[in-house]
Amino acid sequence: MTATIDRVRAGFIGAGRISDLHALEYIANPDAEIVAIADVNRDLAEQRARAWGFPDAKIYTDYRALLDDPNVNAVDILLPHHLHCEAALAAMDAGKHVSLQKVMTTTVADADRLVERSKTASGRFRVFENFIFYPPVMKAKELIAEGAIGEPVSIRVKSNSGRSRTAWAVPAYADAWRQDRARNGGGPIAFDDGHHKFALAWLFMGLAEEVHAWIGETPRPEGGVVDAPAIISWKFPRNRFGHLEIAYSPDLELVTVHYAQDDRLEITGTSGVIAMARGHGRLVEGPALTLYADGKSVGFSFPDAELGWEASFIHSTRHWIEALRTGASPHLTGEEGRDILKFTLAAQLSAELGRAVRVDEVSRLAP
Ligand SMILES: NC(=O)c1ccc[n+]([C@@H]2O[C@H](COP(=O)([O-])OP(=O)(O)OC[C@H]3O[C@@H](n4cnc5c(N)ncnc54)[C@H](O)[C@@H]3O)[C@@H](O)[C@H]2O)c1
Repeated sequence: MTATIDRVRAGFIGAGRISDLHALEYIANPDAEIVAIADVNRDLAEQRARAWGFPDAKIYTDYRALLDDPNVNAVDILLPHHLHCEAALAAMDAGKHVSLQKVMTTTVADADRLVERSKTASGRFRVFENFIFYPPVMKAKELIAEGAIGEPVSIRVKSNSGRSRTAWAVPAYADAWRQDRARNGGGPIAFDDGHHKFALAWLFMGLAEEVHAWIGETPRPEGGVVDAPAIISWKFPRNRFGHLEIAYSPDLELVTVHYAQDDRLEITGTSGVIAMARGHGRLVEGPALTLYADGKSVGFSFPDAELGWEASFIHSTRHWIEALRTGASPHLTGEEGRDILKFTLAAQLSAELGRAVRVDEVSRLAP
């Protein structure tokens, strides 16, 4: 029987850029709190504890000391990708429930290690993915389950990156490790951010069999490069297809309070189409979700609080807290996280080899 806990006493490992959005549900949820924060940058961890209203949270600079803290029963691991495997293994060894930010690891071999370890761990394990918890995405999933567009036959995801006067500040440290493939595992858009788009494709279509990718590279005015433009095509079982198109426009001003980016999604079924018009920002005005079926187009509106990108973090964290309290299986499971990692790595490998790659080739050919 799966052990449950009444109250989630979370320890954050990593208090960087994204931790602010992880904190939101812990601040609001009466069944959870943040009791400890570990970051090599002590000042940052202290600042976060004060800003989030957890002034009594224990502050550590070594996450292993946080893992020794018996008051912590669950951890959110929010570290650069190359540190994920080691930290998650240590947290499982310490008996904590582990929510590990995507991407799970930088190699399939490390993802295998985590899946194997999680089978005998006393705590639960999940890979944190938020896009599948964005309210318009959850509504699209519900409509499809009700048969609103018949059987999905194709999916397309469009991702625009640009600049934004209203975006949040990204610290130099957070950009530096993303620019370094050894620490990131791939490029900053097609791999790091791409995980979310591959997760969306997986949510609606299942795991692809084959991937074909062209991934370009463009210098940024502020220095460094982005792995865009890119076109990534997906072949799913049963003669179904999809693609992700990534465009980077250095002079495209985007309205957002998070990253200078926006995403759109369209799923075509045997009898209808569902289109989602926004992700991070508001590039396209109008209803966030539109269903076309039976010759009619219906727009779905959502309260403002459900449309901000942060809503996807709130729902993903709420889902985790609920799972720990009820014993339900939290998404992404380790196996699901590993599947999406393989899917994402298949695109990297395809671009490198200049040919289509079967997703099951990744374990054999990727480093
Ligand atoms: N779901 C999303 O949409 C989303 C968005 C952004 C980031 N992320 C993920 O969140 C994770 C963190 O990203 P970020 O943007 O917050 O990065 P970041 O660089 O801002 O934060 C990482 C933090 O880890 C700390 N750190 C580094 N090494 C450490 C160590 N050994 N011990 C303790 N602390 C250490 C750093 O000081 C830093 O504060 C990554 O997995 C990233 O992919 C997800």
